[in-house]
Amino acid sequence: MFVLLLVHVLAAIFWMGGTLFFGFVLEPVLAGLGAKNGEVMVRLIPRIHRAMTVAGLVTILAGLGLYALHTSAFDLKLMFETRLPLTLGAFAGLLALLVGVFFQGPTGAKLLELYAKATANGAPLSPDEARAAAVLKARLGRGGQLETILMLLALIGMVI
Ligand code: HEM
Repeated sequence: MFVLLLVHVLAAIFWMGGTLFFGFVLEPVLAGLGAKNGEVMVRLIPRIHRAMTVAGLVTILAGLGLYALHTSAFDLKLMFETRLPLTLGAFAGLLALLVGVFFQGPTGAKLLELYAKATANGAPLSPDEARAAAVLKARLGRGGQLETILMLLALIGMVI
């Protein structure tokens, strides 16, 4: 139980911390670099996506193990009465992972494709491509905000 909790909390710190660091620190700095940020993005996006997916999966898998222990193997009365805040938190955490995998992942992949093409050509993005990149970045920003809210709800449910 202790090892599972340790793994769960460490992975959750990395996942949530990474998401907040990217959204509030790294992304605004990169946006300020303008045309120069393409090469950085090409290296950064796949690595961040991999790291966040692994951290999210470890958080959820260890969380599911803990959840089974805390609810006597998914006893409905424990899940929806005694441990309701934990159940709602777990649900929010699962949703955060789904947003990351099914929304942030494909959006990041499209942005990566745009930047990779421009970097390979050694030319800046065309006005059309720059517009498309701005739309994708705005989408990533909104997805990141949603993930942050869901993670905060999960955290509140866990510690109540
Ligand atoms: C962003 C997602 C998540 C974060 C940030 C998070 C964070 C935490 C933290 C900090 C604790 C330690 C609380 C304490 O000991 O007081 C904890 C415990 C726990 N978490 Fe999560 N968690 C997340 C997702 C999940 C999910 C998806 C599940 C289940 C599927 C889950 C199940 C649990 C359980 C059962 C505990 C033990 C609760 C207890 O000791 O009373 N967590 N979590």
